[in-house]
Amino acid sequence: MHNSAEKPIINRYQTFGIVGRPVIQGNLDVSHGTVLYMEDVSVSFDGFKALNNLSLYIDDGELRCLIGPNGAGKTTLMDVITGKTRPDSGSVYFGQTINLLEMDEPAIAQAGICRKFQKPSVFENLTVFENLELSLKAGKGAWATLFATLDAEQYDRIDEVLEIIAMTSLRFQPAGILSHGQKQWLEIGMLLAQEPRVMLVDEPVAGMTHQEIDRTAELLLSLQGKHSVIVVEHDMEFVRSIANKVTVLHEGSVLTEGSMDEVQNDPRVIQVYLGE
Ligand SMILES: Nc1ncnc2c1ncn2[C@@H]1O[C@H](COP(=O)(O)OP(=O)(O)OP(=O)(O)O)[C@@H](O)[C@H]1O
Ligand SMILES: [Mg+2]
Repeated sequence: MHNSAEKPIINRYQTFGIVGRPVIQGNLDVSHGTVLYMEDVSVSFDGFKALNNLSLYIDDGELRCLIGPNGAGKTTLMDVITGKTRPDSGSVYFGQTINLLEMDEPAIAQAGICRKFQKPSVFENLTVFENLELSLKAGKGAWATLFATLDAEQYDRIDEVLEIIAMTSLRFQPAGILSHGQKQWLEIGMLLAQEPRVMLVDEPVAGMTHQEIDRTAELLLSLQGKHSVIVVEHDMEFVRSIANKVTVLHEGSVLTEGSMDEVQNDPRVIQVYLGE
C-alpha cells in the first residue's frame, strides 16, 4: 500500500499539519538562541481582546515566569502556543522555521511542546513507574505498541526522570496514594519522559504545602538548559524563588519584562496589581 517513491516516510521527525501535508520536525532551528517566537498575536472572544498584539520570545533552555492579574491572558497565551486556540492575527514559530499556526494540537505536542494543566491527571491505579511508561510510549505516538516491553533506552529514560522528580523510591507505589505535590511532580515527570523541548506549566504550586512548593522550585530550576519552561503562577514568593526573567502580562499584552526586582518595582506593574 505504501509506495515510498510517492509517499513521504513518516518517522519521529515528521508529523502532519492540519491540512494534511507533512511538516518536517527535524529542522527545529534555534541557531539564534530563541525557541519560541510570538509576534503581534491577537485573540478575541466576542470582540473582547484576550490577547492584544502580544509579542514574546523565549530563549532555548530558559525558565521564564509569566505573571499578571486575573484575566491578563496568560492561559490564552498557552492555548495559542499549544494550538488549542487560533489567533485572529500574528505569528507563532517554534524555532525560526516551524510555523505552529499550521499545526494542530497533536502535531504541536508531537513536535516537542507540551503542557501541564493545573489538575494532576495521573492514572491512580497504576504505579508511578507505569504512569511514566505509558506517557513515554504515548508521547512517541506508539499507541499500537503500548503493550510492548520497553527497550533499554526507554528504561534509562524512566530512571532518569524518576531521579529528576526525586521519586525513585516511590516507583512501585500506586499513584493513587501519592500526596497532591507528588502527583504534580509525577505529572511533570510524565511530560519529561517525552523529552519536550518546551514545557508550559500553569499554576503548578496551587494547593501545595510550603515544603512541596520549595521542592517544585528545585525541580523546575533543575530543568534549565535542557528544556525551555514557561511557568504561570500567582504565588509571588514562589516566582521570586525561581525567577530569572519575568514577563508581566496585562490586558492581553506584555506590560514589561525583567528581573523579579525590576518588575516588582515598576510603577506600572504596581498600578496594575493594586487596581485589581
Ligand atoms: N473561551 C473563552 N471565551 C470567552 N472569553 C474567554 C475565553 N477564554 C478566556 N476568555 C477571557 O479572556 C480573558 C483572558 O483570560 P485568561 O484565562 O487567558 O486569563 P489568565 O491571565 O489566565 O487569568 P487567571 O490568572 O485568572 O488564570 C479573560 O477576560 C477571560 O474571561
Ligand atoms: Mg489562567
